[in-house]
Amino acid sequence: MKTWLFLACLLLWACKPETTPSCTDADALYAAADFPIGVAVDAGELRANPVYEAITRKQFNSITPENVMKAAYIQPERGFFDWEATDSLLAYSKRHGKRLHGHTLVWHQQLPAWMDVFEGDAAAWDQLLKTHIQTIVGRYKNDILSWDVVNEAFLEDGSLRNSLWLQKLGPSYIEKAFRYAREVAPDALLFYNDYNLESNAAKLNSVLKLLNALRNRGVRVDGIGVQMHVSIAYPEPAQIAKAFQQISTEQYRVHVSELDVSVNPFGRDLEPNAKIWQQQADLLGAIVLHYCQIPQQLQFGITLWGVSDQNSWIRYFYQRADYPLLYDDQYQPKPAYCKMKELL
Ligand code: XIL
Repeated sequence: MKTWLFLACLLLWACKPETTPSCTDADALYAAADFPIGVAVDAGELRANPVYEAITRKQFNSITPENVMKAAYIQPERGFFDWEATDSLLAYSKRHGKRLHGHTLVWHQQLPAWMDVFEGDAAAWDQLLKTHIQTIVGRYKNDILSWDVVNEAFLEDGSLRNSLWLQKLGPSYIEKAFRYAREVAPDALLFYNDYNLESNAAKLNSVLKLLNALRNRGVRVDGIGVQMHVSIAYPEPAQIAKAFQQISTEQYRVHVSELDVSVNPFGRDLEPNAKIWQQQADLLGAIVLHYCQIPQQLQFGITLWGVSDQNSWIRYFYQRADYPLLYDDQYQPKPAYCKMKELL
C-alpha cells in the first residue's frame, strides 16, 4: 500500500467515534456479581431463538417469566390451569442451575376474560383469589422459592388502585393474598412489586406503610420489587439511592425486578448515538453502585426486563423507538453491558 494511503487509513481509524463497547461478553455477567443477575424471559423466544437462548444461559443466573405465569395464561379458563409454559421454563432453569422467580400472582392486568366477568359475592371472590394463588404456589412450592405476590396495587398519589380486586374484595385483598401464599409456601420469599417506587416518595411511603402494618399483624412480606422502568431523563441517581436505603432500613429485601433504561421516554424521532449509549451506561452504573450499598442479606438481585433491545416490551407497549437493554438488536453487548460488568 502507498504510504499516503496507509496514513490516511490510520488517521480515519484513529478518529472513529467510540460507539462499540469496550468489553466482550465472553464471561458471564452474573459471575461478576455477589447477588443474582436476572432476566425476564419470553418462553417462545427461548425455544425458537438460539442466540437469545445462549445469552440467557450464559449471562444470567435468575429467570423471571415475562408473561406465562400471569393469570390470563396460567388460568385461561376457570379451574383450568395451563402449566405447560411454566413447566418448560422451570425445567430449563433447573437444567442450567438458574433461579426461577414467580411473576405474578395478583395483578390488575393480563387477567383472563372469565375473571373479568365473574359474578359472585365477596366470599366467592375470596375463594377465587385463594384457589388461584394456592393452586399455583402449591404446584411449584419445591422449585419456585420467591414470588411477586401482589403487583402494582398503588397509584401515583399513594392511594390504592381501583382494580378488580379492590372492587370485589376491598383493601384486604392484599393481606389475603400474602396469607394465602404463605399458607402453602411457608419458607418462600414473598414480594410486593411496583413501578416508580424509586422516583415517587408518596407511592413508596404508602407501600411501606401497608407492608409494615401487615408485619405488625404477623403477615410476613419479605421484600419489595422495585421494577425500575427508568430512563436517561429521570429519575436522579440520588432518588434511587434514597429509595434503596429507605426499603432496606425497614428490613425488606430489594429486588430491582424489571430494569430497563429507556433512551427515548418522550417518543421522539431518534437515532441512538455514542452520547446516548454513554448516558444509558452511566445511569445503569449509578444504579449498580447504589444497589451494592444495600446490606448483602437484603440484596435479592437485579433483573433486566428482557435480553436485547429487540425483545423489549417498551417498543410494542408504548409504540416508540427505544433501546433500553444491555444487548442491541444484533444481540451484541452495548456500553451499558460493559458498565454494569465493570461496576458489579
Ligand atoms: C409486560 C410484558 O413485558 C409484556 O410482554 C406484556 O405485553 C405486558 O406486560 N410491569 C410488570 C410486567 O409487572 O409484568 C410488565 O410486563 C411490565 C410492567
